[in-house]
Amino acid sequence: MAPSKALKTTFINPELSGVDFAAKFPQLLACHAIAIGFTKSGDSDIPKFNLVGAKTLIRKIESTFALNLLDELTFFLPSGKAGEIFELPASVKGAKVERILLVGLGDGSLNAHRISAGAIARKFRGKKDSIASLVVGDKSALETHATSLALGGFQWSQKSTPVDGAPKFLINSEKSLGRAAVISEAVNNARALIHTPANIKNPEWMALQVKKLAKNPSLKVTVKSGKELAEFGGLRAVGNSSPKPGPRFIQVSYAPAGSSQWPHVVLVGKGITFDTGGVSLKRPYDTMTAMKSDMAGAAAVLATVIAMPELKPKVRVTALLMMAENALSGTAQRPSDVITHYGGTTVEVINTDAEGRLVLADGLAFADLHLNPDYLLDVATLTGAASLGLGRQYAAMYTRSAKVAKDLSTSGERSGDRVWHMPLVDDYAIALKSSIADFNHTADKPKFGAGSVTAALFLEKFVGERNWIHLDIAGPARSESDTGEQPKGGTGFGVRLLIDWITHSL
Ligand code: BES
Ligand code: MN
Ligand code: ZN
Repeated sequence: MAPSKALKTTFINPELSGVDFAAKFPQLLACHAIAIGFTKSGDSDIPKFNLVGAKTLIRKIESTFALNLLDELTFFLPSGKAGEIFELPASVKGAKVERILLVGLGDGSLNAHRISAGAIARKFRGKKDSIASLVVGDKSALETHATSLALGGFQWSQKSTPVDGAPKFLINSEKSLGRAAVISEAVNNARALIHTPANIKNPEWMALQVKKLAKNPSLKVTVKSGKELAEFGGLRAVGNSSPKPGPRFIQVSYAPAGSSQWPHVVLVGKGITFDTGGVSLKRPYDTMTAMKSDMAGAAAVLATVIAMPELKPKVRVTALLMMAENALSGTAQRPSDVITHYGGTTVEVINTDAEGRLVLADGLAFADLHLNPDYLLDVATLTGAASLGLGRQYAAMYTRSAKVAKDLSTSGERSGDRVWHMPLVDDYAIALKSSIADFNHTADKPKFGAGSVTAALFLEKFVGERNWIHLDIAGPARSESDTGEQPKGGTGFGVRLLIDWITHSL
């Protein structure tokens, strides 16, 4: 994502590395700050504090800086909530260290670790400081902690004064942090694409970014545009509303030599670079400002496949990015138009603001007809209804496979991109009956309800007999504010989930 100099776009990923501080104590003293985790238990009258992690190392730090950390905690009585940071000034001759941060770990869950690491990282966002973290006592939380540090420090800015730098995190670990570095970079890559405004980002620009990101020789990129999209009726109907440069179908595949027997996952992403709603203009208008994020699904599937050559799962992964702008113009489609999707299904367009399912339908049908996927999964900021139902912490997941639902739920809790299994209520399919085409693309009665379910039922018409999963990420794709490891704006939701699922369950 080469940031354009003229626009002064800065996008910085914080650095991560693993250091065995017990063996290399001088590296710890060369940092600007040391973070140490603590928990609180017992009743509120007689709280019991506990410092997590390497006891001998903590003792060595205490003696070096002439501090007793438990005494400090017992005196100041911090709450111990995840993400609470209690700061102690510290200095000793010959060391760079200026402060020790005692970081609350809440209930010690992975979620609490994400919140704590996010809080540490945010404190140093935009600074060039190096921070030694001893926050993880339990090795199983190491990847979560490291990933969340790198996520919490994410910065994307077009301020005329460029941001200064990014923090460097050194983590107490003998083992490599390679996986955390790959995952956090993937999420931050997706975030950078989502944060980019739509006066810069359009389908053609996205194709250019894909080519820049997919440099690894085991990744193959193909882009279709113009006449090559003749059969992609949904993508064209939506994307031709924007005269230049028009829609793009971007295929990125990871299939290294010798992989023909591996399972094949096809990921289809909704890539609307801006969603005005089209002729059915989005109202109230202020809901439109968030719509540069309407390509978050495409960003997520792209970042996932880009990470594959470094993680090397024995899985073939193909990402299909359905890129279009949903503009309001003289070439925009009309409510009541009938379009022909890839594979021949005809659809009566009811509301041009339900554009996501139209571009996805072509991608799903294309995957079913040509790519022989073992798993066909789509990711989309599809319906406001999903975010009304589940808020910003869970995506709506639809699948008929109990096994996949269970695996994805587990991956969600483990990775932080959480999903909730929703029902594909067959009774609601009547909403999609059309008198003139194969289907309506939305319920034609606005009061029908179950907007996220009927959208899923519509998509299912295009997946043939495939093992299909739909993730409606309209809620968690964006964060209203800096919270936990998430920045305000695009979160990159789905990347951690998909990487976890592909590398643990397939
Ligand atoms: N991109 C929106 C969905 C959305 C809404 C995402 C809020 C993120 C936050 C989608 O294209 C849309 O407009 N959906 C309509 C569908 C309706 C017209 C059937 C919606 O949810 O209102
Ligand atoms: Mn829309
Ligand atoms: Zn949309």
